[in-house]
Amino acid sequence: MTEPVLVEKSNQLLVLTLNRPEKKNALTRGMYQTLATQINDATSDAEVRCILLQANGDMFTAGNDLADFAAVNSGSVPRQNEENPFLAALGAARKPLVAAVNGRAVGVGFTMLLHCDMVFLSEDAALTAPFVNLALVPEAASSMLLPLRIGHVRAFETFVLGEPVLATKAVDWGIANRAVPPAELRKVARAAALAIASRAPSSVAATKRLLRDETALRERMSMEQEYFMRQLRSPEFTEAITAFSERRGADFSKFK
Ligand code: COA
Repeated sequence: MTEPVLVEKSNQLLVLTLNRPEKKNALTRGMYQTLATQINDATSDAEVRCILLQANGDMFTAGNDLADFAAVNSGSVPRQNEENPFLAALGAARKPLVAAVNGRAVGVGFTMLLHCDMVFLSEDAALTAPFVNLALVPEAASSMLLPLRIGHVRAFETFVLGEPVLATKAVDWGIANRAVPPAELRKVARAAALAIASRAPSSVAATKRLLRDETALRERMSMEQEYFMRQLRSPEFTEAITAFSERRGADFSKFK
């Protein structure tokens, strides 16, 4: 069976490759768990000095698997208030994370980048956070991290109108380090990861910790989770998910 997340360790790098291209690398609960376990285990693994996130196929990821969200909405799975282990792992990550983003990055595909220490985009990359278009709310502490990075009005536009942030704009706004031709993306990101791995590990680890406020990240994720679960069970989300399956735009006009 093909693994939806490929895991490879070499040259002091842990490379995690999203590998569900037929579903645009939409992230299932199993994929989140694999990613979380790998990131958490890397903390105590001296052989791993940097983690590289990348994806197979024509886009980075279409975000959370909508079928999993729909199952919560319909009540066909038990009430799930537990935190997403991947988001928790990102918030607590000790080893540097480098992302190589090909094509689209949707939802959590975008918000996970705010936890990465270096981000490289292919020139055709487009980042979208369509949470409000789906009647949801931002997650992964992005409601705190994105406005910090790009300011309130840009963050509001990105979240509420769901406008794509194209590669050049993402670099201008400080969301990514560089946009490169698609054919060079993996090479450039890997070179950066290897450069990080060559630096004094305790110094890199301390610098990463100093640059981030882990406590604030955790608190914000837990606040977002409450809103997110409420929205996931809302009639507006039912309309949004039905519209996606019917391949039409959502109609929120009847909601108060
Ligand atoms: N969850 C589950 N399945 C998804 C998915 C997701 N988030 N995104 C795409 N897929 C599936 C599609 O249902 C389709 O499956 P099928 O071939 O069995 O019908 C397959 O992946 C290909 O998707 P398709 O929509 O045909 O590709 P596209 O290139 O035309 O469009 C996107 C790509 C990403 C623009 C579009 O799929 C999309 O909008 N996806 C939803 C993104 C989203 O809202 N994510 C949640 C954010 S919180």
